[in-house]
Amino acid sequence: MRTAIYPGTFDPITNGHLDIAIRASALFDKVIVAVAENPQKKPLFSKTERRDLVSQSVKDIENVEVTDFDGLLVDYAKSVNACAIIRGLRAVSDFEFEFQMALMNRKLCPELETVYLMPSEKYTYINSTIVKEIARLGGKIDCFLPEAVVPYLKEKLK
Ligand code: COA
Repeated sequence: MRTAIYPGTFDPITNGHLDIAIRASALFDKVIVAVAENPQKKPLFSKTERRDLVSQSVKDIENVEVTDFDGLLVDYAKSVNACAIIRGLRAVSDFEFEFQMALMNRKLCPELETVYLMPSEKYTYINSTIVKEIARLGGKIDCFLPEAVVPYLKEKLK
């Protein structure tokens, strides 16, 4: 049983994140999307809301589960016997931070590999901050977010 963790803040989950979760689900027996607390980012949605939105978005993918975690990612990964961390790489600009994180996680837990997946090119320019800004300014967000997320973001920004 090969389990992978896909961690992130997911504030909120976008179509780009969903694309990565779908790709990962084809490679591993089980994928756990793990929603991080991440106080550094001061998320718009609470951890429970972010987790619920991820759950609604991945409900049709059979081998994907959703959870949240506090503390170190490697500790959580060990507790569920994961063999890999999944992260999305959209552009060269993601690389430096991701490289640092992968090497730090490797130092903390050498047996856990980080696997990078490229989302479909139509999602490479999306991030959660930009989508929230477009929504705040009244722009159309339906093409960037899973269907279930759109009404929640609109309501949150009222
Ligand atoms: N498509 C679209 N957008 C994507 C994306 C994709 N495939 N992949 C990433 N993004 C965007 C996100 O929307 C987000 O945008 P934002 O910064 O505007 O909110 C940004 O890229 C990255 O967010 P996300 O993928 O949610 O991850 P993160 O960088 O917020 O997550 C953790 C970081 C949670 C993995 C990391 O902080 C962690 O592991 N924390 C636990 C504590 C720990 O172990 N720390 C030590 C780490 S070495």
